Amino acid sequence: MSSILIKNGRLVDPANNIDGVKDILIEGNIIKEVNDSIEAQADKVIDASGKVVMPGFIDLHVHLREPGFEYKETIMTGAKAAAKGGVTSICPMPNTKPAIDTPERVKDLLERAKEAPVHILPIGAVTLGQDGTELTDIEGMKKAGAVALSEDGKSVMDTLVFRKALHEAARVGIPMFSHCEDKSLVDGGVMNYGEKSEELGLPGITNAVEDVIVARDILMAKEAGCQLHLCHCSTADGAVLIEMAKKQNLPVTGEVCPHHFAMSDDEITEDDGRFKMNPPLRSRADVNALKKALADDIMDVISTDHAPHGAEEKAQSMLKAPFGIVGLETSFALSYTELVKSGLMSLSKLVEKMSLNPAKVLKSDKGNLAAGRTADLVIADIDTEYEINADEFESMGKNTPFNGRKVFGRIEKTFVDGKIVYGE
Ligand code: DOR
Ligand code: ZN
Ligand code: ZN
Repeated sequence: MSSILIKNGRLVDPANNIDGVKDILIEGNIIKEVNDSIEAQADKVIDASGKVVMPGFIDLHVHLREPGFEYKETIMTGAKAAAKGGVTSICPMPNTKPAIDTPERVKDLLERAKEAPVHILPIGAVTLGQDGTELTDIEGMKKAGAVALSEDGKSVMDTLVFRKALHEAARVGIPMFSHCEDKSLVDGGVMNYGEKSEELGLPGITNAVEDVIVARDILMAKEAGCQLHLCHCSTADGAVLIEMAKKQNLPVTGEVCPHHFAMSDDEITEDDGRFKMNPPLRSRADVNALKKALADDIMDVISTDHAPHGAEEKAQSMLKAPFGIVGLETSFALSYTELVKSGLMSLSKLVEKMSLNPAKVLKSDKGNLAAGRTADLVIADIDTEYEINADEFESMGKNTPFNGRKVFGRIEKTFVDGKIVYGE
């Protein structure tokens, strides 16, 4: 069995209350020992002095475009982007073509993902073809390996259909991941409604488009007794609603994407498709509320909503470009820079949001570097500033509004199952 000894790194492992210099011995695919100093012989010794070592990040929300849209991303290119971003597990959303809406399609996805360098944990659709009417075989998809259910890309607008799905999800014991958007209220909107949309002459998406479904889904999940994870929360009132749910001890978690706290709509300089995603970049007040909600543990998880698209598709007016930006290769750096470097929270808390809490949502034992756990971990340099350069992305999608942004937090090495999958 091959072994790797990582020496002198600052281990940040909130699951075990550790933030200090440690040595870590990996044997095969597991963590063999964590200690102040380990003198064991190993096949490879890595000096991590001055670097941080963290449990690998778990991204509960990504879009790989296979099957159906391989010109945007494949499972392999998306997984390589994850490895480069320090993300050791990714949950692909089911809005592929065909949608991941049967046990067979879940199995097919896992088969296609066999050679991927990171763990792929599929999410099954709520309704067949994501058309909002007929429920999928939720129990069958779970048995085939789906870790969650979602209709991401839209909401299940028929509340009776959604209620049935929540009851079945509760019975089977699988969480519902909700994309919250009242379709009828979108009304052609392409960016946040506000001064900026007025200035650019573009139709706006109000906060209520999202908030009314956040409220509905919390109330419906409460009625059904179902675990609910609210995807890509972007509004101040969304945080208020989640706080209310938490006060009632409901099994509700909130997710925020880096773009929703690292950029606000007033930074949109022109009508450019690269600034377009759903939900949209919101106001500075929303950004500040989301940061506070993360710091106060109202929001539990940071995930990316990594949504690659073709270059030509995104090089259009917001009226025409598809919604979505890539995120796997910028999530740690943007989060570290905006939330930790700025003094808002500790690095340990950020690791909770990116590794431990996502694992808890999935009831997984990942996100924890105790002896005996899977050796999924990441080494990063948090002291050297660098510039985000989309041309260097492993992802086929280069669509990001953060190109050229100066950040701290470069991933140096990523380990999955004890193997180095990024950085030599
Ligand atoms: O921006 C987005 N892109 N939001 C979504 O809900 C879907 C996603 C995509 O699939 O491109
Ligand atoms: Zn979504
Ligand atoms: Zn999404």
